Amino acid sequence: MKLPYAEPYKIKMVESIKNLSPEERRVLIKEAKYNLFNLKSADVFIDMLTDSGTGAMSDKQWSEMMLGDESYAGASSYYKMKDAIKSILGFDYFLPTHQGRAAENVLFSTILKEGDLVPGNSHFDTTKGHIEFRKAKAVDCTGEQAFHTETLDDFKGNVDIDKMEKVLKENPGKVPVIVMTVTCNTTGGQPVSMANLKAVRKLADKYQVPLFYDSARFAENAYFIKVREKGYEDKTIAEIVKEMYSMADGMTMSSKKDAIVNMGGFLAMRDPKLFQNAMVHNIMNEGYITYGGMSGRDMNALAQGLKEGIEFDYLESRIKQIELLGDQLVDYGIPIQRPTGGHAVFIDAKKFLPNLPKEEFQAQTLALELYIEGGIRGVEVGAILADRDPVTRENRYPALEFVRLAFPRRTYTSNHINYTAAVIKNVFDRRHEITRGYKIVKEAPILRHFTVELAPADE
Ligand code: F0G
Repeated sequence: MKLPYAEPYKIKMVESIKNLSPEERRVLIKEAKYNLFNLKSADVFIDMLTDSGTGAMSDKQWSEMMLGDESYAGASSYYKMKDAIKSILGFDYFLPTHQGRAAENVLFSTILKEGDLVPGNSHFDTTKGHIEFRKAKAVDCTGEQAFHTETLDDFKGNVDIDKMEKVLKENPGKVPVIVMTVTCNTTGGQPVSMANLKAVRKLADKYQVPLFYDSARFAENAYFIKVREKGYEDKTIAEIVKEMYSMADGMTMSSKKDAIVNMGGFLAMRDPKLFQNAMVHNIMNEGYITYGGMSGRDMNALAQGLKEGIEFDYLESRIKQIELLGDQLVDYGIPIQRPTGGHAVFIDAKKFLPNLPKEEFQAQTLALELYIEGGIRGVEVGAILADRDPVTRENRYPALEFVRLAFPRRTYTSNHINYTAAVIKNVFDRRHEITRGYKIVKEAPILRHFTVELAPADE
């Protein structure tokens, strides 16, 4: 018999979690103004809000924490991080930052001005936020395949090359960078193929525009290239990562994902001039260039985590755990973005709750139901997250309304996943009873989902 996959690690330390009753949760979520970010984590049973900074570090990473060099300048921890970045990703220059959005801040402060355009594949919300905050525009060139959740396309993170070329051709001198997000979080943790990256590189060369990767989940992307793209099945993850990055001029990194640390990030690049210019912004906003918002011990854990994050066995067990939930949901007839990608299962809330109007926020409504039913905290990736149009101030209703259930790395067992599947099934079975959603009572002008306050639509 073919042996099933099993986690390539065992558990050395545990943290208790508690399952409250649906009645208790109903009270708590009302007090939280129907915003899952406002809940105390102690009131959540399975926390799938994010896979960012929520993973379990290894014994080797914890050992590295003890070896951290906390010198202000030139710490050995900085050099460990530098060596890991050079050997795994190939960049000579890098700046540590406290997390991914800080790297975006440093990059865009250096190269972006009002009226510019940044084409890419469904930019993550902080990336878009940084671009729009500077009165520039993030142009989504994602291919049509990403917006049909039921079709089984291997690389739903790919851009439509013609769409991207049109932006470059029609806006000479106004595109300071192309950003490819690997994997593409917003469309469902969906990977970008090597072929698509190559085609984007060609455009970057033709129009003389630098190409950066938003790299939070670069190792998961490499895993999908290995198992789904012809010609890569016999290559190691390390080799695939090298090839991906040989085509990039630079990268922003949220190390809280594929480098398996709780905090940290960096900006890396090839161009020494860009490094010089970015350095100023790093020093002003993050810290001196050899620590940039990170402590020495965190840089050590990051360097070790980068190595562990590209191990095939680890990646396989992680992606298979996500598939385990995805497959169960598909068996129950529950609509999700297919095939399952990296880091999360994305439930298609428009199809799950078709009778609810979009103005009542289908994905948010479903996310709240999952919390009440089973103490699962997911996150809305839909109209609330999409913010208002910066010019018209109208609500933006994106093509996809998702509830994302993200998988913290090395944290939950398959039993937790079976429990999660049962909770979703129970809500699915009573979906016809969910006839009203929510309305916004209070919101921030940008990145509103974090602090939004809601009330039932009929109150
Ligand atoms: N890019 C991508 C693709 C991301 O998913 C994130 C964060 C960032 C950049 C920003 O990094 O959080 O370290 O500042 N994503 C988290 C999530 C928050 O839940 O998906 P950060």
